[in-house]
Amino acid sequence: VDASEWDQRYAATELLWSKAANVFVAAEIEGLAPGVAVDLACGEGRNAIELAARGWRVTGVDFSAVALDKGRQLAAARGVEVDWRCTDVLTWSADEPADLVLIAYLQLAPPQRAQALRAAAGAVAPGGSLLLVAHDARNLVDGTGGPPYPEVLWTPAEAVLPGFEVRRAETAPRAVGELTAWDTVVHLRRPD
Ligand SMILES: C[S@@+](CC[C@H](N)C(=O)[O-])C[C@H]1O[C@@H](n2cnc3c(N)ncnc32)[C@H](O)[C@@H]1O
Repeated sequence: VDASEWDQRYAATELLWSKAANVFVAAEIEGLAPGVAVDLACGEGRNAIELAARGWRVTGVDFSAVALDKGRQLAAARGVEVDWRCTDVLTWSADEPADLVLIAYLQLAPPQRAQALRAAAGAVAPGGSLLLVAHDARNLVDGTGGPPYPEVLWTPAEAVLPGFEVRRAETAPRAVGELTAWDTVVHLRRPD
């Protein structure tokens, strides 16, 4: 799916995702001291805005200009600032090391997502976190939600990178109404 298709999806509805931060993102950032954060594939910015509200200096990166415009409006309504960048995460490079690099629900085929993950990992400062939340392959067999395409679904194992400490790496349940969606949740820390 390219940027113009994502633009069309975002233009077709007032809010494609939620205003509130993702439940796993909210849980994992709870214990982190605010610093510099990057939200890759930030969409309408629900997680970037939550981070900014908690005192982080946040850059939100996405290749959908329509999504970023909505993020700008949501951030203004909440009274927070986010540096929005309309860029492909596959060509993006960090301006500075980040204390947190977040990727939430990025849907790419394996070679591209490995590339995005490498770029994300390279941007993490010593002592900083890399947090990946994604639709997990388990949804194909007993979950709900997320795209029904095996090639864009993640597993925790592929996101556990050498040289990082593992704070969390699991396929975790997320309630969707009465149903369960399965998410890959991987939180890594770069040693000091
Ligand atoms: C499912 S949405 C998730 C948005 C956001 N992370 C969230 O959790 O609300 C996936 C996002 O990835 C973005 N995206 C997909 N491929 C991208 C790429 N190569 N570069 C930048 N953004 C990309 C889309 O525009 C879309 O906003």
